[in-house]
Amino acid sequence: MYLSQFYVFDGDKPVPLTIRNYTQEDFDQLVQIQSECFPPPFPSELWWNKEQLNNHVRYFPEGALCIEVNGELAGSLTGLCVNFDPNHMEHTWEDITDEGYIKNHDPNGDTLYIVDISVRPKYRKLGLGKQMMQAMYHVVIQKKLVRLLGGGRMPGYHKVVNTMTPDQYLQGVLAGNLKDPVITFLLRCGRVPIGIIKDYLDDEESCNYAALMEWKNPFIIE
Ligand SMILES: CC(C)(COP(=O)(O)OP(=O)(O)OC[C@H]1O[C@@H](n2cnc3c(N)ncnc32)[C@H](O)[C@@H]1OP(=O)(O)O)[C@@H](O)C(=O)NCCC(=O)NCCS
Repeated sequence: MYLSQFYVFDGDKPVPLTIRNYTQEDFDQLVQIQSECFPPPFPSELWWNKEQLNNHVRYFPEGALCIEVNGELAGSLTGLCVNFDPNHMEHTWEDITDEGYIKNHDPNGDTLYIVDISVRPKYRKLGLGKQMMQAMYHVVIQKKLVRLLGGGRMPGYHKVVNTMTPDQYLQGVLAGNLKDPVITFLLRCGRVPIGIIKDYLDDEESCNYAALMEWKNPFIIE
């Protein structure tokens, strides 16, 4: 299981944090965090319910991470293991995560797939999301998996949908000409885009597109 305690900086002020696995006692707070992180137009049916959270803890507890700041829950990061074939990249969030229920978790899978990351709005831009992602990279290394993978929403895309294809948008973010709240964050976490997926998730802001973002285990060279 995972436990790490250290500091992030809020300006010049060190703020103590804990990254650990979440348990049943955290579920109420985790649902509350989802409602703060995915406001309308994001569909509220896609927020966590207790059955999904129970499954995360039951099927793959190592992939159920949360972060606490000053004793308050500030965010979570959840994954499952799947077998991923880079020659068949097309999938939907619903299919690959079993709609967030992760009953398809494969203990022999080679890929840690991210189901969700959320950081409470009042705790954003402190480095908490990045620190949780680093923690999940540790899990990938510890379990000797090939990669961490996930579909990154691109919520800024709807603003330019009339003038740019999703690929042009992603290239614009990669060139540094555009910033996206999720894709730029994932790039800064060390994730690399390997393709665009259409109809990934019911997500108006991203026009249902996602960029498939990979982090490869540096100790496994294929
Ligand atoms: C995406 C999210 C998890 C980021 O969490 P966070 O804790 O604020 O991110 P961090 O502070 O760790 O940021 C890490 C890096 O990403 C950058 N970053 C974070 N949010 C950003 C944004 N909105 N735009 C551009 N860059 C951003 C930071 O500047 C930082 O860069 P640095 O490491 O070079 O200093 C958070 O905004 C969130 O919960 N969003 C809503 C839920 C969501 O859409 N999740 C993704 C589902 S696919």
